[in-house]
Amino acid sequence: MENIILDKYGKKYSVIESDCDSEDFKRFNIEYRGRRVGYTNYHFEGADVLYLDDWHIEDDAILPPWFSFDLFFCFVSFPPLSWRTVNFQKRGIGTAMIKFLADYARSKCAKRIEGEVKHHDFKDNPDLPNWYRRRGFSVVMGDEKTSWVAKISLAV
Ligand SMILES: CC(C)(COP(=O)(O)OP(=O)(O)OC[C@H]1O[C@@H](n2cnc3c(N)ncnc32)[C@H](O)[C@@H]1OP(=O)(O)O)[C@@H](O)C(=O)NCCC(=O)NCCS
Repeated sequence: MENIILDKYGKKYSVIESDCDSEDFKRFNIEYRGRRVGYTNYHFEGADVLYLDDWHIEDDAILPPWFSFDLFFCFVSFPPLSWRTVNFQKRGIGTAMIKFLADYARSKCAKRIEGEVKHHDFKDNPDLPNWYRRRGFSVVMGDEKTSWVAKISLAV
């Protein structure tokens, strides 16, 4: 299954069901010009819940060169690697992916998307609970005893 999502600039990304071999979760890869720029791992919990295990938009994805060739045993490519290393975060891909997942969950007759904000992700981005709130999730904060920072839930 391949679908298209758009970032906030109108750029197109393919969302492709991956045949990763984990029994615990399924994966959607997000691709741009044939390169993976993000992924979403999820599984269904019962009939009602699409559970978001882990997801990430790359901040250092390497895009393919416009051209490349071997010149006297030296590999030449244009643009150079540093120009092709791109941060795909904060372009609206995550927001588009949540909309995609909500549609997908609904198409499978699920009622909610659920997940957790983990400590390591919260340490890197303390705004994450608010990120989910701004996208319509209800957020329940944990405390020092919980293994998670926040539980998130979105009715679809
Ligand atoms: C969280 C994440 C999935 C969001 O995806 P994204 O494509 O960057 O998000 P969007 O472009 O749709 O949203 C941009 C918003 O997120 C904020 N944002 C994104 N990355 C951020 C970061 N590293 N630090 C602070 N804010 C960030 C932007 O300021 C912007 O705020 P807004 O709500 O006022 O618009 C992505 O940043 C990511 O992969 N982070 C690392 C892994 C992670 O935390 N995964 C989530 C686990 S619960």
